[in-house]
Amino acid sequence: MEEKNNINLNEKSITSSHPRGWDNEMLKKMDVKVWSYLEEYEKEKEQINGAIKEVFESGTLILGENVKTFEEKFASYCGSKYGVGVNSCTDALFLALRSLNIGSGDEVITVANTAVPTVAAINATGAKTVFVDINPDTYLMDVTKIKNAITPKTKAILPVHLYGQCVDMDEIQKIADYYGLRIIEDCAQAHGAVYKGRRAGSMSDVAAFSFYPTKVLGGYGDGGLVVTNNESRYERLRGLRMYGMHGKYLATESGHNSRLDELHAAILLTKLNNLNEYISKRREIARRYDNELMHTSLKPPKISKDNESVYYVYVVSHPKRDEIISKLKEKCIFCNISYEWPIHTMEGYKHLGYKEGDLPNTEKACKEVFSLPMYPELTREQQDKTINALKEILREIEIKKDFN
Ligand SMILES: Cc1ncc(COP(=O)(O)O)c(C=O)c1O
Repeated sequence: MEEKNNINLNEKSITSSHPRGWDNEMLKKMDVKVWSYLEEYEKEKEQINGAIKEVFESGTLILGENVKTFEEKFASYCGSKYGVGVNSCTDALFLALRSLNIGSGDEVITVANTAVPTVAAINATGAKTVFVDINPDTYLMDVTKIKNAITPKTKAILPVHLYGQCVDMDEIQKIADYYGLRIIEDCAQAHGAVYKGRRAGSMSDVAAFSFYPTKVLGGYGDGGLVVTNNESRYERLRGLRMYGMHGKYLATESGHNSRLDELHAAILLTKLNNLNEYISKRREIARRYDNELMHTSLKPPKISKDNESVYYVYVVSHPKRDEIISKLKEKCIFCNISYEWPIHTMEGYKHLGYKEGDLPNTEKACKEVFSLPMYPELTREQQDKTINALKEILREIEIKKDFN
């Protein structure tokens, strides 16, 4: 049991209903999960099951009316003209880059404090990832560092709207205009997030979304979507997700198989109706955490005045993070760390030529940040339990510090 309790809750391992390695006894004991879809499914069962049944009975499983309608509605929700449903955000990013002709010999500027797929997608095109450090308060791309990272090979900037908050897009737009660069937004964690009155996904050449189950608009499996305002890029993306074909069985370029299924699109369509409600519930929980934890030694998430965060996660930081997390775990309250390892120091990305010390703010964040339980159906009792436990643990840590 002891060994199982030591399981590291990385993002993917918390996302199935039964985290890998956990037995039923542990699940019963798991009072406050960092994320769960089960309560939401219980509430929305009728619509979701109804949507699934309709697809099964419709006679169309691939690229039918559900995908088309979802693409239109979600793009319009984002304030964008066109949407192309694909099978993940990793693919959405990869195809977005391909649609901008970015590949071998090119450089793309992004951050190392992100999910691995941001970088995997750049890598898959053959382009080189160039990292800039993050702002230590928001944990987002430090836009003041971009200019120094630009070389004659730079083709694009890829800001990641991490944790539910948008990057300073006006500044990025200015730099992109001046140097003639493309912008691709990674919106995997920012459905509905607003920056200066504009929604995530509407502030770039192409933007990529994920519908991985944990996301603010989460599906019941994998899924992704690309949005753009450019008609010819939209047409190209439709071909790229379908073997490069722009006519029946006629490939005009080399493409991929990356389609959003009718089944997932139908479920996402029903959930899209509730997206604003999911967001407001997340904001309510965040406000409680803000108010209750403001006088503790936890550093809360800083939301810039230009942003309305959707709180994909509520991220806090503390130098004694690991101790806090393990004490919370003893009380059956489960937190998550995103991200524990900065991508520039990972074995898989050694070839990019970075070493520890190159991105100090990113490296510090990876040692200190963690996220509190956050999903729309998190009950008031679960919030109280988390808040009270945190206050108690933090008090103990402060007392210990005073005696040392
Ligand atoms: C910031 C970010 N980008 C990209 C992705 C990739 O999304 P997907 O799992 O849909 O491929 C994720 C999801 O983990 C993410 O959080």
